[in-house]
Amino acid sequence: MERKWWHGKTAYQIYPKSFCDANGDGIGDLRGVISKLDYLQELGVEIVWLSPVYCSPLADQGYDISDYYSIDPRFGTMADMDELIAKGKERGISIVMDLVVNHCSDEHEWFRRACADPDGPYGQFFYIRDWHPGKKLPCNWRSYFGGPCWDLLPGHEDKIYFHAFHRKQPDLNWENPALRREVYKMINWWLDKGLGGFRIDAIINIKKLLPFCDFPADRDDGLCDIRTMLARAEGVNVFLQEMADSTFHLYDAFSVGEVFDEKTEDLPKIIGDNGYFSSMFDFAEKLVGADPRGWYHWRRPTAEEYKAAAFDAQKRSQGVGFLSNIIENHDEPRGVTHYLPEGERSDEAKTMLGGLNFMLRGLPFLYQGQEIGMENVTDWPIENYNDINTLDEYQVALRAGLTPEEALAAVARFSRDNARTPFQWDASPNAGFTTGTPWLPVNSNYTRLNLAEQRGRAGSVYEFYRQLIALRKNPRYAQTVVYGDTLPYRREQKNLMAYFRQADKRLLVAGNFQKEAQEMPLPGDVAAVLLNNLDTLTQRDGRLILQGWQFLVLEMA
Ligand code: GLC
Ligand code: CA
Repeated sequence: MERKWWHGKTAYQIYPKSFCDANGDGIGDLRGVISKLDYLQELGVEIVWLSPVYCSPLADQGYDISDYYSIDPRFGTMADMDELIAKGKERGISIVMDLVVNHCSDEHEWFRRACADPDGPYGQFFYIRDWHPGKKLPCNWRSYFGGPCWDLLPGHEDKIYFHAFHRKQPDLNWENPALRREVYKMINWWLDKGLGGFRIDAIINIKKLLPFCDFPADRDDGLCDIRTMLARAEGVNVFLQEMADSTFHLYDAFSVGEVFDEKTEDLPKIIGDNGYFSSMFDFAEKLVGADPRGWYHWRRPTAEEYKAAAFDAQKRSQGVGFLSNIIENHDEPRGVTHYLPEGERSDEAKTMLGGLNFMLRGLPFLYQGQEIGMENVTDWPIENYNDINTLDEYQVALRAGLTPEEALAAVARFSRDNARTPFQWDASPNAGFTTGTPWLPVNSNYTRLNLAEQRGRAGSVYEFYRQLIALRKNPRYAQTVVYGDTLPYRREQKNLMAYFRQADKRLLVAGNFQKEAQEMPLPGDVAAVLLNNLDTLTQRDGRLILQGWQFLVLEMA
C-alpha cells in the first residue's frame, strides 16, 4: 500500500454550530474554532473536519447550501476561514470541509433559476418532471426525512422536483455534465485556498436509478425505502472516478466519503491506492440493530455484535485501504450511550470503548465531546428537539401507535441532537459554550461532565484520549499502530474484544466489555504495558485478570 501524508494522523470532527460561540449570539462560529486551535493541538489531532459553514438557511443545519463560495454570516467571514486554514497549518492541523453536492438548498441561485425557467439550462441542474393533481408521482421512494421524494416546484402547479432528503434540499442532476463541471470547479477553488480536503456527504445518492420507477411499498404510507433504488442503481463509480481525477487527485487532497451499502468488491476502487476517496467511514457497527420500520424499532448492539461488526470491517479493508473509524458523529447518538449498557457509563467503560475503536487499523476520527465522554441527553421534552430527522421519526412512531411518551423515549435514544448539544468546556453557565442563549440547550450533566474538570486529572477520559493519540504518533510504535494488520484474539470469548496489531512490533489490544472481571490467557510474555485505563494489572499463571471495563495495550515480547 502506498504511504500517504495523512495515514498516521488523528482526525477530529467539529460541528461548528455547537463547538464554541465567540460573539455571544448562541451559535458556535469560526472565531470560536480559531480560539480553540491551541486546545486541539494539545489534544494532538492533526486533521479537523468542519461540518458545513457555507451560506445556508440551516433547514438541515448547513447540509442545505445556498452558496458554496461564501461563509454563512452566522459562522463568520471568508477572512475567518482563511485565518483558520492558516493558523491550523502553523499548528500542523489540516482543515477539511464538508462537501455537500448530492443536493443544494432550494434557496441556491441554481434552484431559483430553475424555478424561473424550468426549460432553461438550470432546469437541467435538477430533476424536474411534469405533473398535474391526480397524476401518479414518477416514483414512490420515501425521502430520508419522511414523505415522498417529490414536491411541487415553487411557482408552478404542473411541475415537481426530486429531493432525497428534505424538500429544502433539491437533488442535483449529476447526469448533466454542466452541473458536474460546476461542482469540480468549486472543489478546486477551495483546494486552491489551501484546504486539506473534504468529507463527502451522502455521495452514494448522486446516482439515481433512471427512469424513475416504483418498488413494492414497505410501510403503510405506500412508499419504499430509497435504499431499495440505490441497491439497483449502477454507475456511481463513473461519477466518482471523474470527480476524483478532476479534483482531489490533482492536489493530493484528503477525502473521506460518507459511503453506505458499498459492495465489498468495490472497496479497492473506493479506498485503494488511487481510489475515489482517501478513506470512507466504517458504519458497520452503527448499522447493527437498525430497522427499516423506523427508529422506534431500532435497538442497541450488544458487545458481541459490536465486536463482530468491527472485525468484519477490519478484514474487508485490510490490505485494501484505510477505513475511518468512529464511535459517533453529528448524525448519531453519543457512542458511549449507544454502545455501553444502561447504567454503565463510567470513565473506565468510556475509555475502553474509545480505546478499542481507536486502536483498530484505519484512520481514527473523534467527534467533538467524545474526548471527554459526552453522553446523550436523557431529560428533554419533544419541544427541545430541533433536528428534522428526529421530529419526523417521532411522527413515524406516533403513527405506528406508540403513545407520546413511548415515541419520545424511542426517538430520544437515536436523536441526532444528542451529538449536537453544545460542547461542555467547563461548569460555568451554558458550559462555557456561549455567554448568550445556546441555540440548542446544553446537556444538564455539564456541571459534572466537562473539559475543565478532566484536563490534567490522571485517569480522566480526556487524558486517556491524549495518551491514545500520543501512542499513534510515537515513532517507536507508529509503524505497527498505523499500518499493522488486525488479528482477532480469542474471538469466541464472550464480552472480550481483543486483537493483535502486528507489523514490526506485536501489540495486544484488549477490552473487557462488561462490568464483571474476566480472565484472558496471555499469548506470550508482556514486554511493556503501553496503555491501561486502570491503575492495576493482575497477572496469574500466564493469564490476565481483566477488571470490569479494563482496557489494555500491551507490547508482546
Ligand atoms: C449526511 C449528513 C447529514 C445530513 C444528510 C443530508 O448524512 O451527515 O447530517 O442530514 O447527509 O445532507
Ligand atoms: Ca456566534
